[in-house]
Order: sequence, then structure tokens, then C-alpha cells
Amino acid sequence: MARSDLLLALVQSGAGGDELAFRRAAEALIAEENAKKHGILASQLADALTRRKNPGSSVSPLSRPQESAGLYYETEPTRRMTELVLPTAVRQATTDLIEEHHRRDLLRSHGIEPRHRILLEGPPGSGKTTLAETIATEIAVPLLTVRYEALIGSFLGETASRLDVLFSAVRIRPCVLFFDEFDAVAKERGDTHETGEIKRVVSSLLVQIDRLPSHVIVIAATNHAELLDRAVWRRMQIRLSLPKATRAGKIELLRSWSARTGVTFGKSERSIADRLRHVSYAELEDFAEDVQRRQILDGFDADPSAVTERLLKVWANRAKPMPDLDG
Ligand SMILES: Nc1ncnc2c1ncn2[C@@H]1O[C@H](COP(=O)(O)OP(=O)(O)OP(=O)(O)O)[C@@H](O)[C@H]1O
Ligand SMILES: [Mg+2]
Repeated sequence: MARSDLLLALVQSGAGGDELAFRRAAEALIAEENAKKHGILASQLADALTRRKNPGSSVSPLSRPQESAGLYYETEPTRRMTELVLPTAVRQATTDLIEEHHRRDLLRSHGIEPRHRILLEGPPGSGKTTLAETIATEIAVPLLTVRYEALIGSFLGETASRLDVLFSAVRIRPCVLFFDEFDAVAKERGDTHETGEIKRVVSSLLVQIDRLPSHVIVIAATNHAELLDRAVWRRMQIRLSLPKATRAGKIELLRSWSARTGVTFGKSERSIADRLRHVSYAELEDFAEDVQRRQILDGFDADPSAVTERLLKVWANRAKPMPDLDG
């Protein structure tokens, strides 16, 4: 049995002739049935909604998932919040968001929706992609990562219609829709001969994001928040900044990694963090995996402290700060 508030919204909007509200309610209902694994009912409902005559609607019709094949790839997320090193404010904001989705029925009974448009900003290897995956895991929905190379067509007008296909396919299921390296799309605005066309694509993208129901959690990640224009910022309800790795954060990461894998370094986490001063969290994890690999191969003879020391020397070369490409 579908939820009473959705049924009520469906009938009220249908009776009142409010096309947009009707679609929202129908899509939420379909998403709900999809989430309950009632796939047959969900696709019957989606078919019925697609066939509906829809004069003058600005909302694109639903398209079948197979038409959208290739525009995104879907993964079953597994990363958990506990594995991530995050500043307190970011962790709190993320926990709040997750709670809003877990308890959306309560919110909806008060006529309010959970937030679902999030911008993640931060340097390479600070955990943006991982945080998006984590949010999907914690809300228990699939992670759909948009593939720009498939989305951006080589012919004028093609991209806009692919965007329509993408959005109408995803809106009927609860998911995290992930735009990684979002500046790649937004930045192109100034870079091309077809500036006018790209501008139209970006505005159409933003309009589509606006119209998504709250069960589609849009997460956009970027290394270059300053390149995104105001229109993007304005739309995002939650903006989280993931900082460069800190010393305390590195110590925390090394400890939790050790606890998870059972691998010991034979040296204090503090001294490792001090010697790998310039690495990102992603690189630090690579280092830890190097240690694990070496320990496994050395077998019983492995001396953790000697292995760590040797790899720290190797990493000392890599660990020099990269030339700052961003100026
Ligand atoms: N804050 C963090 N806490 C724990 N692990 C992290 C953190 N940041 C990165 N990592 C580890 O590093 C790996 C790569 O991180 P991730 O891909 O999320 O970084 P990113 O910010 O998306 O980088 P890029 O900008 O290059 O896409 C992850 O698999 C994760 O295990
Ligand atoms: Mg990433």
C-alpha cells in the first residue's frame, strides 16, 4: 500500500489540474515502489505516466531506463561514514542530511521535503567522491555517476536531448545522482566556440536539477568551486568544503585504517604524518596500502617498522609538494 500522503497529493493535484505537482507525486510514488522492489508495478505506473497526454507541459516525458544506458554508471555503494576523516561541521551537516532522508515521512507530513542538492568542494584526494558514495550507502540508495563523455554530444542540440533522457530516467527512483568534477561542464561555458550552445546546456541542466524530486539526491563535486557560476551555487542547498589533509586528520586516518585492516606500521602514526606532510588523504591511503602489500609479500619475516621506514623513504620523493597548478 502506497503512503497516504503521496496518494492524497496525487489525487489533489490531479483534481486541481496542477500538472507539475501531479508529476511530482506520481514520480515519488513510482520511486517508492521501485525502492520496495515492486519493479513490475513501478514500470506499469511509469508507462502510464509516459502515455499521459501532456499538453504544453514543460516537464519532459519519462523515458525508459535502457534509453539512458551509457549516460551514467550505477554502483552499489559500500563506503561508510565511520571510514571518513571529516571536519566536525561537515560530518554534522552530512549526518543531518542523512537523517532528513531517513525521516522524510515525518517531514512530509508537515509539508516539507528533505534537502537534496549538495555541492562538495575541495582539493584532489580530500574525499569528495568518497563522501558522495558514503551518503548513498547511508541512505541505502544506488550511486549513479553521470558520464559527461556520453552526455556531451558532438552535434548541436544533442546534449540537451540527452539531458532530458538522463533526468527523466533517474527521477523515478531514489538515488544519489553524482556529478563528479562538475566544473568540467560549467567551465566549458567560456572555453568554446559554441558558447551560446553550452550556456543553454548548462541552464537546461540547472533547470532540470531544480525540478528533481527530493528522492533524487544530486551531489556535485568540484576542485574549483570558484569556477562555478553563481547560478550553480544558488541552487545548492548544502555546500560542504572538504579541506586539505591536516596532521590530526592524517593521524586519525592511519589509526582507523590500521584498525580496519589489522596492519600495524611499527611506528607512531604521528611520526608518519609528520614525514608525509604534503600528501593528501588519498595518497596517505595509498601509502598505507603499500605498507600492507610489502608486509604480505615479506610474510612472517616482515619487520613492520623496517618496511614502513623503507617506504617512507620512497615516498619522501613523491611527498614533495606538487607545483601549484591552480596558481
Ligand atoms: N577525508 C578522507 N577520509 C578518509 N579517506 C579519505 C579521505 N579523502 C580521501 N580518502 C581516501 O582516498 C581515496 C580517494 O579519495 P576521493 O576519490 O574521495 O577524493 P576526491 O576528493 O574525490 O579526489 P579528486 O578531486 O581527485 O576526485 C578514497 O578511496 C579514500 O579512501
Ligand atoms: Mg573525486
